[in-house]
Amino acid sequence: MSDKIVLTGIKPTGTPHLGNYVGALKPLVEMSKSNKTFMFIADLHALNFMRDAAQLRQHTYEIAAILVALGLDLKNAVLFRQSDIVQVPQLSTMLMNVTPKGLMNRAHSYKAAMDKNTAAGLDTDAGVNMGLYTYPILMAADILLYNSDIVPVGADQKQHVEFARDIAGYFNNIYGETFKLPEPVIGEDSGIIPGLDGRKMSKSYGNVIPLFAGAAELKKKVMRIITDSKLPDEPKDPDTSTIFQLYKNFATPAEIADLRQKFVAGGMGYGTAKTILFEKIDSVLSAPRAEYERLMANTAELDKILDDGAARARVVAEQTYARVRRAMLG
Ligand code: ADP
Ligand code: TRP
Repeated sequence: MSDKIVLTGIKPTGTPHLGNYVGALKPLVEMSKSNKTFMFIADLHALNFMRDAAQLRQHTYEIAAILVALGLDLKNAVLFRQSDIVQVPQLSTMLMNVTPKGLMNRAHSYKAAMDKNTAAGLDTDAGVNMGLYTYPILMAADILLYNSDIVPVGADQKQHVEFARDIAGYFNNIYGETFKLPEPVIGEDSGIIPGLDGRKMSKSYGNVIPLFAGAAELKKKVMRIITDSKLPDEPKDPDTSTIFQLYKNFATPAEIADLRQKFVAGGMGYGTAKTILFEKIDSVLSAPRAEYERLMANTAELDKILDDGAARARVVAEQTYARVRRAMLG
């Protein structure tokens, strides 16, 4: 058991896919086995563009059910809704006062919105609300509130974690040592999971395989994976094949070596390879999928898990916030 505190937030904005599973969810569940982990569903972060409360609630349940179904260790992991901790928006308000506006102007999330507007010939701030603009401050509040040491995030979120460090530093300079400085930990790029069309699997490309698709849908998606036009007899390159790249993340080393051999030797058509891939993913995910479905049909059980998590998170949040109040207000 490591003594490092791990923290991460997952935005409830869509149904997770196999890329999210391999790149983020599975490693988080693994990490929860050896670290005290704060893991929350970042519903407040979704508010700057999600306007449908029922949908937000549904996606929140989905993420919670997925993590529990994948075996999140609920002894080490504190799983909760971001919005259940009132100290998050409170701390965010406090941190606003030590955060230079210029830092927000440089945030990737805001710059991306401005670039999109410029490209469309619109005013640079068109459609930008203050939730989007101050997004990194809210994220800093999340990170600093729970005394996090390690924040595992995708590469796109690294700058936000660095901002949390910067903001903690500004605060500590003015008010004395109050916050621990967190470290971002970036998942490896080599682990990018390709989607049906061979590009990175991503909601924005519409090329995803949903993590808990039923067996029939999973099969249909796998059969739609784009391949080159090599005939069954021809040798094939596993390293450029989406089928093989996906298989690698679900099979044992011996099974992977076996499929590699079948690709290289020739004699196996892509249809057969897809069937092997489908059966493997289905066998690995069928038990967690059943548990996921059970939980989604029992949201009261999920509420209980999330409420318990919030109660545990609140203990730490109250202590940190009390320190901040004392430092700032006496
Ligand atoms: P999307 O691109 O579908 O919008 P997100 O940006 O919401 O996905 O991804 C959330 C996390 O899931 C990322 O931080 C990253 O770690 C992981 N992830 C997403 N897509 C992939 C992928 N194709 N391969 C590996 N990891 C991925
Ligand atoms: N902003 C992150 C994302 O878009 C989600 C998030 C919110 C987060 N608060 C966090 C991640 C704190 C890590 C730590 O994916």
